[in-house]
Amino acid sequence: MELTTDYIKKFDGKWYKDTYYSSLFDSVEEGNLLKFGMDSFHDMFNSDVDFGGRMLDVGTGPVIHSILSASRRLHHIDLSDYSPSNIDLLTDWKTDTSHGDYDALIKYEMKLADDRRSVSERETEIKSKVLGIRRIDLTSENVFQETASHDVLYDVIVSSLCLEAASADKEVYRKCLRNISNLLKTGGYLIIFGVLEETFYRVGDVRFNCLHLTSEDIRTIYEGNGFKILKWSTMFPEDHPPKVEENDFSDFKNVFAMMTQKI
Ligand SMILES: C[S@@+](CC[C@H](N)C(=O)[O-])C[C@H]1O[C@@H](n2cnc3c(N)ncnc32)[C@H](O)[C@@H]1O
Repeated sequence: MELTTDYIKKFDGKWYKDTYYSSLFDSVEEGNLLKFGMDSFHDMFNSDVDFGGRMLDVGTGPVIHSILSASRRLHHIDLSDYSPSNIDLLTDWKTDTSHGDYDALIKYEMKLADDRRSVSERETEIKSKVLGIRRIDLTSENVFQETASHDVLYDVIVSSLCLEAASADKEVYRKCLRNISNLLKTGGYLIIFGVLEETFYRVGDVRFNCLHLTSEDIRTIYEGNGFKILKWSTMFPEDHPPKVEENDFSDFKNVFAMMTQKI
């Protein structure tokens, strides 16, 4: 199968969304990764931390699991991605009056939050918090190509499964992190959901590269670039991770959720 880094031409956002985000539990493709991510976001945003008002989701892709819990706490959320076709899918979601694609995710988050309203009412509320959908290139110092990068700094930045996908090596990862940091207020929160020791993941008929990183690498990179790690959890115990069967879809060994603060 072809190995690629071409997010402009080869990333089939619809396939990605339908394959990895239609079911929450024990999926053949990624086990309980999505459930772990959503539980972690819920725990972080359900805490008594004062998050402020403006949030950026970096490398949103065609999916919205990473903003669901956050949308209960922040009134201004910008989504962003490198791939123009993902920007189109997110824009379709935001502007379309039909509902349905994310019902399973929204229902699950509502259950966590003990929210008894209808799914469509909640989805409308989430959409109302999404005020921008921005083209971004994390590897470039001028990350937002279309406007000045340093317009208003964010209070919170969230990123799910993006930095390890966008970075060819650790130096690029550090550069991406510094570029993210430039968008965040001092004292602001950076929340990362990522995979450990993964080298590829599949999208349709191609495999995308993923930067192999251990938990030690992650801690060293963030602490070495001005972030204090406030919360850290992994899907499997770090000292005894079960052997995850490598399958056709990806080869991650563990998954982490981390809340950091810019110091
Ligand atoms: C594995 S997907 C993750 C999507 C989604 N956030 C999720 O959790 O499923 C990786 C995402 O990173 C984005 N990406 C790749 N290179 C990037 C770059 N240089 N800057 C910003 N985003 C990038 C891709 O377009 C893609 O949407």
